[in-house]
Amino acid sequence: MTDFSSVKGKVAIVTGAADGLGKAVAQCYAENGIKVVVSDINADKGKKTVEEIKAGAGEATFFQADVSKVEDVQGLINFAVETYGRLDGIVNNAGISAESRPTHEYSVQEFDKLTAIDLKGVFLGMKFGIEAILKSKAPGGFVINVASLAGIMGNSSMAIYTSSKHGVVGLTKSAALDYAPYNITVNAICPGTIRTSIWGDTPEEVVQQYAKLLSPNGRLGDPKDVAHLALFLASDMARYISGSAITVDAGSHAGKLTPTQWSHPEILE
Ligand SMILES: NC(=O)c1ccc[n+]([C@@H]2O[C@H](COP(=O)([O-])OP(=O)(O)OC[C@H]3O[C@@H](n4cnc5c(N)ncnc54)[C@H](O)[C@@H]3O)[C@@H](O)[C@H]2O)c1
Repeated sequence: MTDFSSVKGKVAIVTGAADGLGKAVAQCYAENGIKVVVSDINADKGKKTVEEIKAGAGEATFFQADVSKVEDVQGLINFAVETYGRLDGIVNNAGISAESRPTHEYSVQEFDKLTAIDLKGVFLGMKFGIEAILKSKAPGGFVINVASLAGIMGNSSMAIYTSSKHGVVGLTKSAALDYAPYNITVNAICPGTIRTSIWGDTPEEVVQQYAKLLSPNGRLGDPKDVAHLALFLASDMARYISGSAITVDAGSHAGKLTPTQWSHPEILE
């Protein structure tokens, strides 16, 4: 199988799918024939995602869930199985960021809030999602956790986000070993700087400064860059890939950016 048709008919949940990366993944999955349960804490925007998918002849339904709440995540998994009769995969994408500040200035409340969504939320999605995937006897089960470059590298002024994302990578690696014998792959996607609403009210010129500072190609990524990897990981072409934390970052993780001067810049003319 050397195309993406292997994903056709699979059933997958995408959390945080009302916006940003999750929305792009849900749309990409539906375009390729995956039946998608779009889930988000934001019902209005989540339902809009479903409407857009259906307008494009894709199959999707919405379920409102706060990934930090046990009963919501249980309800989400039950809904997927009741609606489609099975579950093949889950993309644990919902997440929030925190304001940038030195570690000691974060409050305990900020730590608890972020950890409940970015780390516990992923654990809950895995706990209940994997149970359902096992019960479905999915031949190509998959779990994709959206971590971050902050899941594999330290970041100044981002200690609480970074600790949660490292935790997501840890969950991913351990679970990959647990479920490898049962045909479930478990991988993490580690995006670099991608243009989504997670940037909030950050002024455009500051976002562009971040892009120049953090991205070797000098520009922000597009949510589709992440969606394409998520599609590959859901397909039968990726069955031998598990326990990996795969970056989508234009090479940011590869090392430090240092100023460089070409001897022959005219080659570019
Ligand atoms: N955009 C980036 O540059 C970037 C980089 C690295 C990692 N990430 C990660 O990618 C994931 C998606 O981020 P994004 O950029 O698309 O953000 P986004 O803000 O555009 O979208 C996040 C979605 O998650 C939902 N959400 C928030 N809290 C929730 C909760 N408790 N329960 C359910 N849904 C909830 C929001 O309503 C929103 O629809 C996050 O885990 C984030 O940490 C993003």
